[in-house]
Amino acid sequence: MEKTFLMVKPDGVQRHLIGRLVQRFEDRGFELIGAKMFRMTKEQAEYHYAEHKEKPFFGELVDFIISGPVFGMVWQGENVVALSRVMMGKTNPLEATPGTIRGDFAVDKGSNVIHGSDSAQSAEREIANFFRPDELMLQEPPA
Ligand code: CMP
Repeated sequence: MEKTFLMVKPDGVQRHLIGRLVQRFEDRGFELIGAKMFRMTKEQAEYHYAEHKEKPFFGELVDFIISGPVFGMVWQGENVVALSRVMMGKTNPLEATPGTIRGDFAVDKGSNVIHGSDSAQSAEREIANFFRPDELMLQEPPA
């Protein structure tokens, strides 16, 4: 079953949005198989955002994501990578449709509440950056 890494960013944690965001993904029918609040190290942040290393906003991006606690989650479900990105909405606030998370909660390109993996491959890399295998509830629950 497909997995993705979703993360409530420091602005979302400060704004007490964790519960409402978790609710949206549960309502959609996805399974939460791992979650924790933590402060990202600079090394984890630079690895997480490695594909943006050459962008002018890279330093700002890393500083922001380590500026406070984040709430990292691993979700499982059919097409969870693509569907969660639809639910998140576009990065550019001018393109984020109302009804999506960013369309409902964000007005800034950087402080945009939530991160979600952009492919199953990225998800695997991102999950391994933040979770040990034993932190994920991979087994089926007992009947
Ligand atoms: P996300 O898609 O989670 O991962 C890359 C992030 O880069 C993106 O969210 C934005 O938060 C951030 N980002 C994109 N463009 C800019 C920008 N112009 N200035 C600051 N941050 C940006």
